[in-house]
Amino acid sequence: MADAKIIDGKAFAAGLRARVADGVAALKASHGVTPGLAVVLVGEDPASQVYVKSKERALVELGMNSFDHHEPADMAEADLLALIDRLNADPAVHGILVQLPLPKHIDTQKVLARIVPEKDADGFHVVNAGLLATGQPGAIVPCTPLGSLLLIRDTLGHDLKGKRALVLGRSNIVGKPMAQLLLQADCTVTLAHSRTADLAGECRRADILVAAVGRPEMVRGDWIKPGATVIDVGINRVPAAEPGKTKLVGDVHFAEAVTVAGAITPVPGGVGPMTIACLMLNTLAAACRAAG
Ligand code: GUN
Repeated sequence: MADAKIIDGKAFAAGLRARVADGVAALKASHGVTPGLAVVLVGEDPASQVYVKSKERALVELGMNSFDHHEPADMAEADLLALIDRLNADPAVHGILVQLPLPKHIDTQKVLARIVPEKDADGFHVVNAGLLATGQPGAIVPCTPLGSLLLIRDTLGHDLKGKRALVLGRSNIVGKPMAQLLLQADCTVTLAHSRTADLAGECRRADILVAAVGRPEMVRGDWIKPGATVIDVGINRVPAAEPGKTKLVGDVHFAEAVTVAGAITPVPGGVGPMTIACLMLNTLAAACRAAG
């Protein structure tokens, strides 16, 4: 069989960002409103710093306001909650993103619950999770699953009815909302995780395989159904062949999988750029709703 089609998330995300930029310009012209996202980073986690910088850069590029709050690692939980209260009340802020993970002394669920659901650009608030789980309109959908779904639809077409989908990983950020989105698209969904019996066998039945476990190259070529669509959400930094160097790999063993799958996202350049583009989309949508 020929090698898989490589799903170009970078190109798709660039197109989406261009459409968001058009939307931003239109909202400015019609309502005099500039969408704004507050990005809250607590502490110095290097990976989080990289993500936060690329989010802030994208906001400015697309004509939106970026309100940056970089706080010390020992920030008190009460002070973080007070900051969220101020951002909730600020009419220039349409979306609030609290970068995860938070330092251990802070209760993540308490902080996420403090964000008003309409400004929850990440879609992590229980109200948005609940709206998504119950199939109601108006849910703000988490960015990585949303971006993954857009890539799946671009690859397989809009109609995913009856496809067997397997989501590997049960996080609130990716696995659970991804399963909900695929279920809403009429897929038959399996949500697998580290305790799943015969994980390889479960994966091998899937027409759509979404890997989001954070384990470098865990999904091997012989776990994949020939012709399947493989979405690799993993971004893992591992030692490279060259001494002292590192490289990024996904949760899927790409070199093996590409010979079996029908289509596959690369790492980097697959799902990663879609996450940021969808964050921009969620922020624009929140600003549009606030503007009426
Ligand atoms: N940490 C890892 N992924 C994410 C994300 O999508 N949003 C936030 N806020 N933090 C993260």
